[in-house]
Amino acid sequence: MRLDKFICKSTELTKLDAIQKIHAGNILVNGAIVLEESTQVHEDNLITLNGECLKPRPFRYLLMHKPANTICSNVDGDYPSLFNQLDVDGLYGLNRDELHIAGRLDVDTTGLVLITDDGRWTYNITRPDKDCKKVYRVGLSYGIPEHKVATLAERFEQGIQLQGEQGLTQPALLEVLLSEYADGKGGEGKGAESKEVLLTITEGKYHQVKRMFAAVGNRVLTLHRERIGDIQLDVEEEQWRFLTASEIASF
Ligand code: URA
Repeated sequence: MRLDKFICKSTELTKLDAIQKIHAGNILVNGAIVLEESTQVHEDNLITLNGECLKPRPFRYLLMHKPANTICSNVDGDYPSLFNQLDVDGLYGLNRDELHIAGRLDVDTTGLVLITDDGRWTYNITRPDKDCKKVYRVGLSYGIPEHKVATLAERFEQGIQLQGEQGLTQPALLEVLLSEYADGKGGEGKGAESKEVLLTITEGKYHQVKRMFAAVGNRVLTLHRERIGDIQLDVEEEQWRFLTASEIASF
């Protein structure tokens, strides 16, 4: 990690303050003054500020329930940043600018987001070859008739060709919510159809779920992420909590 980042992670200093300390010759790495803020350092290095040994804070891991009309970015854009709902500035030295979202959601998508400052952990969640399952509850424009469920599920299992992508999507699990048939929302009897499904995917391509359903002639009206790996969304909209040790270790 860069020296200025290391100092920010182990003190209450801002990046600007950290750089000033470096330029002033107050920082020693393994006993030698270092004046360049971009110098790469390792947590095992002995780094001191005015003679005091610095130890970086442990990484932070939280989950949040994203509401619609917010964006997964640290700063506001056309819509407000999700981080505006994260009242953690200063809490245990946590600065929201250091955080990022492990697997972003579209502005209109709701549900589970994982937030951290641990880039390696994020890698385990977002890299397709890590096989991390993300479960989405999907509201569709066109109902899926009961007699077509098996065929459609097979298509998702075999992979879908998305426009502009090379190769098929990785196997996905489509589960039509049968309660939709039973409670009459989708209609009873022979012509019954369901407009609500669960889709489990292991990738995170741009607009992936919406594009997968577009590729089979449907349209996503509502999209909500319920689960990532073993972590289930369990807080109300706009609320957040720290992850437990076992949730963190599960990736
Ligand atoms: N797939 C999408 O299309 N949008 C999301 O926000 C997440 C997955």
